[in-house]
Amino acid sequence: MTPHLSPAAAESLRTALHRARYTTDGVRDLLGPAAHAALGRGEAEPAFRAARDGGDLGVLVRLLLLGAVEPDAAVRAALGPLTPELATEAGLLQAADGGWAAALDLRPYGIAAGPDGDVDDPVEWWVLSDLDAPRSDRRGQERDHVTGVGGASLTLASATDRTPVGTLLDLGTGCGVQALHALGPARPRPATALPPRALARAAATFALNGLDVELLDGPWLEPVAGRRFDRIVSNPPFVPGPARVDYVYRDSGRAGDEALAELVRDLPAHLEPGGVAQLLGSWLHVRGEDWPDRVRSWLPAGVDAWVVQREVADPALHVGTWQRDAGLDLASPEARAQAGVWLDWMECGDVEAIGFGFVVLRRIDADVEPVVVVEDLLGEVTDPLGPEVTAWLSRVDWLRAHADDAALLGARLAVAPSVVLETYAEPGDEGWTEVGSAVARRDGPRWRHEVDGLAAALLAGCRGALPLGELIELLAFAHDRPAGELVAATLPAVREFVRHGLLVPTP
Ligand SMILES: C[S@@+](CC[C@H](N)C(=O)[O-])C[C@H]1O[C@@H](n2cnc3c(N)ncnc32)[C@H](O)[C@@H]1O
Repeated sequence: MTPHLSPAAAESLRTALHRARYTTDGVRDLLGPAAHAALGRGEAEPAFRAARDGGDLGVLVRLLLLGAVEPDAAVRAALGPLTPELATEAGLLQAADGGWAAALDLRPYGIAAGPDGDVDDPVEWWVLSDLDAPRSDRRGQERDHVTGVGGASLTLASATDRTPVGTLLDLGTGCGVQALHALGPARPRPATALPPRALARAAATFALNGLDVELLDGPWLEPVAGRRFDRIVSNPPFVPGPARVDYVYRDSGRAGDEALAELVRDLPAHLEPGGVAQLLGSWLHVRGEDWPDRVRSWLPAGVDAWVVQREVADPALHVGTWQRDAGLDLASPEARAQAGVWLDWMECGDVEAIGFGFVVLRRIDADVEPVVVVEDLLGEVTDPLGPEVTAWLSRVDWLRAHADDAALLGARLAVAPSVVLETYAEPGDEGWTEVGSAVARRDGPRWRHEVDGLAAALLAGCRGALPLGELIELLAFAHDRPAGELVAATLPAVREFVRHGLLVPTP
């Protein structure tokens, strides 16, 4: 039977972790910036040295973060009132030669407040997951391995709309990280998980954080049949490959992107009107097919959708990335055989590349024309995209309310404060000659649009004072062009600028 963290054991553990300051700040303070950064790169020795004289916190860091065996007396003191025996019953520790060792990964996790954080109040949790397979084990993780907070988890967490909602579902909760983020502390919410080991890890994470989460057992949307939510978040097993499951956290068991297609089709029926689903996903780029058309074809009626492609990988990079992620020795015969099957499968299916990104779905009234945008946002984005998702949804509402040209022409718009005009020039005999320009946001997704002189002049006039129509008339007069011609030429771009947050409506 999968070990279980009882409420009493969770309470004792929480007491010990708080007392020792086994928190994100506490660990960062103990290690110092250099050793902390080194640990993030997988270099353990600086952290061992920094934790040497760290008292109970040093013991917990070495035991739980660095994978060391710690002596019985030290563990007993650091974990009290939880005894090592009870911690072992709960699956957290195991007896080892010379003391005790961690049997699970237990680490502090939080979001900082302030300009670089994405919340007003800092939030602090602990997340329980499986220990990664040792590097010496060339077979990588076990099939049921429950991952901790990884790159994909953080991508989704930072791209999630955080406006408070009443009901929320975390589909495929695993270590529970999305559910932790989704509503803030102490709000009831359901989360689904599969298999039993993932359920146990999620239950332990929620118990340890004192959170009331309704855990539901079962595949995909089965456990929530007939139920609707204000928000659904999901980091599903989205990695496209042959229809088999090598790792439950990664493989859907369905061929290619079929599982994602099904989720995109079925999730909206589980949303309340106006409810939003946000998920990570990967889609195939198949020879002779436009990838946005492929994703669009999955969408049911009555749904606004924003699909953002963040990365594109060729088949070799895709397979290598996910095999490395699973801790495999890529030169081993087993890994080569697995890669061979995977690459053959993609070759047979004319798969040229694999896209990765996030999908936002909003359930709207059936009689409203949906807005579907499928676009690339490749390259590094440092700002969290959650606020952008919230803003995108309200911009789409605003554009829908101003779908009529007359309504848009009557609106007052201003260039967003973070927008700059970039000009490019080429050197020549006469010095620099301007050859083009673009407007770009310096925040969020850093959207950038090439503009000609006319569009740049129009944007310069957008200061929230005059309605757009009057600005266009002034521009037409100044350039001796018919106003109707300028309206037709500029309104599509204006709509794009609003959608990308370069132009903002003013009251
Ligand atoms: C990529 S992990 C994400 C875990 C966690 N939510 C996060 O963001 O880090 C995918 C999770 O989905 C679960 N899962 C796999 N197949 C599933 C299925 N058919 N139905 C529901 N959950 C599933 C896995 O156990 C795993 O916890």
